[in-house]
Amino acid sequence: MRIQKYISLCGAASRRAAEKLIAEGRVSLNGSPVTEPGVDVGEGDEVSLDGRVLVPPEEKVYILYNKPRCVMTTMSDDRGRRTVAEAFADLPVRVVPVGRLDYMTEGLLLMTNDGELTQKLTHPSHGVDKHYAALVDRAVAPEDVETLRRGVMLDGRVTSPAQAEAHPAGGGRCVVTISIHEGRNRQVRRMLESLGYGVDALRRTGVGRLTLEGVPVGRWRYLTDEEIAYLKSL
Ligand code: URA
Repeated sequence: MRIQKYISLCGAASRRAAEKLIAEGRVSLNGSPVTEPGVDVGEGDEVSLDGRVLVPPEEKVYILYNKPRCVMTTMSDDRGRRTVAEAFADLPVRVVPVGRLDYMTEGLLLMTNDGELTQKLTHPSHGVDKHYAALVDRAVAPEDVETLRRGVMLDGRVTSPAQAEAHPAGGGRCVVTISIHEGRNRQVRRMLESLGYGVDALRRTGVGRLTLEGVPVGRWRYLTDEEIAYLKSL
């Protein structure tokens, strides 16, 4: 990229003003003064203005991670448990989780260094649907599925309407798929437990229209530009 564009990207001056700074001999590239605009800046080059190195804005990174069980959704843990930070230790930028998944819950967790998007997606008023599959310890009665849909009382407040379905699983157990847009603490587990079901396993299978397809447990991938635009548009 042209050096005047790079200077403006770093927020040091507009492109026009950067050309003037160059003409005044105040800009250098890798320690050598630059006097002509239009010089190209590439990866690893260092541009200085009045002797101070300019820092380009950090590239925004958006990741879809399939969090395993027994991993904390935190960047560190004082009890020495594994954290999501470990999977991203080699990235050149620091990504943080968008919201939380319980220690024992696996599944789709977004990770990013875009604070604005994180705030937006985790704000209580934000209604993006999160999809879960819970393995419960016995068959689920149709009236309980209806109660999950309509809402159950948690902490003195009824949960918002949800989508829920029960599918028989082996051994007399049942998989309950449930989509909620609230993000109360341990919400899915507590909704099921409040109706007397034991939750043997819980997985978040999707956030909005993003799914875990093609991403095995413990692995991650970058979001596509289209997916990023989708999340920003929510
Ligand atoms: N609901 C839960 O109970 N646990 C999670 O991790 C997410 C939603």
